[in-house]
Order: sequence, then C-alpha cells, then structure tokens
Amino acid sequence: MNLEKLVRKNILELKPYTSARDKFQDGIFLDANENSFGSVIESEIENLNRYPDPHQKQLRQSLANFLKINEDKLFFGVGSDEIIDLAIRIFCEPRKSNMIIPQPTYGMYQVACDINEVKVKSVQLDSDFDIDVEAVMKAIDENTKMIFLCSPNNPTGNLLSTDRIKFLAENSNLIIFIDEAYIDFDERGSFINHISGFKNVIISRTFSKAWGLAGVRCGYCIADDFIIKLFFKVKAPYTINKLTANAILKALQKNETRLKLISQIIYEREKLISELSLINSVEIIYSSNANFLLIKIKNASEVFEYLNQKGIRVRMRKDDERLKDCLRITVGTPEENNLLITALKEMK
Ligand SMILES: Cc1ncc(COP(=O)(O)O)c(C=O)c1O
Repeated sequence: MNLEKLVRKNILELKPYTSARDKFQDGIFLDANENSFGSVIESEIENLNRYPDPHQKQLRQSLANFLKINEDKLFFGVGSDEIIDLAIRIFCEPRKSNMIIPQPTYGMYQVACDINEVKVKSVQLDSDFDIDVEAVMKAIDENTKMIFLCSPNNPTGNLLSTDRIKFLAENSNLIIFIDEAYIDFDERGSFINHISGFKNVIISRTFSKAWGLAGVRCGYCIADDFIIKLFFKVKAPYTINKLTANAILKALQKNETRLKLISQIIYEREKLISELSLINSVEIIYSSNANFLLIKIKNASEVFEYLNQKGIRVRMRKDDERLKDCLRITVGTPEENNLLITALKEMK
C-alpha cells in the first residue's frame, strides 16, 4: 500500500519549522528569547522559563516502556482532540477530500472535519452499533482518505469488532483512525496487538478517562514511524508543556492506581445497570465497555430537563435520530450515582 499517496502533497513537501530546542538541550541558552532570569512563580517543576522538549523524548521513552512498543511509533498531543485534528490536516485536502464516519459517534470528528473543510460521509453503524462494513466500503470514492472509528464507541459504549476493523484496514486502502479513548475499560478489545501488521492504522488514546487526567490535556497515538514523523512535522513546536509532561511521567509510575480506578468504575457501572433496570421508564440499557452508559428512556427530553433542574448533568444527543430517546450517563462516584437513581425514582 502506497501511504505517500494518501498524504496531502503540501505536507509531504513541507519544510517544518526548526525550533531553538531541536538540536541542543544543554548549554547557555541565548537562542530562544526566553526569560534568562527565571519565572514569576515558583514551581516544583524546574526551569519553567525554558521551552519544553519538542521531540517529547522522555515521554516517548516512558510510554514505550509502559506499552512495550518502540518509541518511534508514539506521538503525544494536547488531548486526543489535537491528534484528531492533526490527522485530518495531514491526510485530507480541504474542499476536496472526504472522510467516512460511522454514526452515531463522538461529535468532534465532524467538527474537526468542518473546521478543516473536509466533507463527511456519514454511514450508519449496524443495529448492534458495530461497523457495517458493506456500507462503509460502498461509501468510499476516489477522494476518500480516512475512516474514523471509535472503539469503545462514544456514545453507545460498545467495542467495534476487531475482524471488521481488520477488513477495512486490509481492503480500503485508506487511513483507519481508531479512537481508543475508552479502551482502558476493556483492554482486550484494543487493536494495539494487530497494529504492527498495518501501516495505515492510527490508534489514538488519552489520559483523560481511566487515568483521571482530563485537566492535564494529554493524548497520544500509536502508528507506523512514517505517520508519526508526519505528526511531528505538522505540530506546533512546543505542544506538550512541562507541567503536563511531569504529570504524565508520574502517572505512568502509577499503573496500579489506574487499575484500581478502573475496577471501581466498572463495579459502579454494573451496580448502576442493576439499579436503572428497576426503573420503569428505562427501556434499554445498552451494554457498555466504557465508563458511561447509554440508556433509552421514556420522555428523554423531560428527564434530561428534570435532572438538570436537580443539578445532575447527563448528555443528550437530539441531532441523531437513533439517539433521540437516549441519555448518556457517566458512571459517577457511589454518592453521585445514588443521587441520580433517587432523582429518577422520584420523578413523576
Ligand atoms: C471518543 C472520544 N475521543 C476523544 C475524546 C477527547 O479526549 P481528550 O480529552 O484526550 O481530548 C473524547 C472526550 O470525551 C471522546 O469521547
């Protein structure tokens, strides 16, 4: 498969910005117009007056150790949202290329395409919210560059089947972007063990969910070195700041805590399922491999408003026909879940 043919010509030919910290990370720094005297605040992180490493070296090494893969296959972004945007900018020609998005899914893919003037070809997921391979293959035309897949899928909560992803990776001749933001909640469903066979697959992940670091804004992707080099070529020079890098390096030493959080969340999710199933107006609780539940409920809009009045925020997607009677509920703490269940029971 000729990956180069999928890359925008201007990106292939782009001469990237060379930053002051590209070559030297030590010495007397009079090359980047930083404040040589120091910073206005004190911090446990040293040298905040200096720009961070644009090559993300320490981060990539630590994550490579953690995932047991080669660091050349890793790139960090300001949340996976940045990775989604960069991927579109690398491969899709504005006003020419199109992207296939199986729906319903995470709304940001559409927004990122709209910002980049990339046409979206929406295809429906099948009745189990899995990939309808035939529909996706049928939607491909000569201007299609990418397929966005979300597994576990937001907002439906289910994993997409590996065999179907493999089929698309093998037969579509396109970039297959797999968003695994929620994969920590069911790691067996990850595509990570298959990715080495595919040069056209990008897996993106985030520290915002299971790691509990949404405020830090950090995501990463795993892909063939050729694609990773393109991400480095197009990113702004210093995207991952020192405070973020420090938090991520610490987090990677705390896998036990991540696993504990995951099992607490899964325990609460299952408890929430049994409690929701006792509420009459709840018609369907979709099975979930993530930290949220999608439920179909009678008078969803009214329930949504009622919960809002009680200060309980859940998500509703009125824009999608298949989700119009549904609410997406994040698994909360035991206390938060109790308040939700009590509120639902009390609703007339
Ligand atoms: C499927 C999916 N991908 C990506 C993101 C964004 O993640 P990040 O916080 O890493 O930008 C979200 C956020 O909710 C999400 O649901």
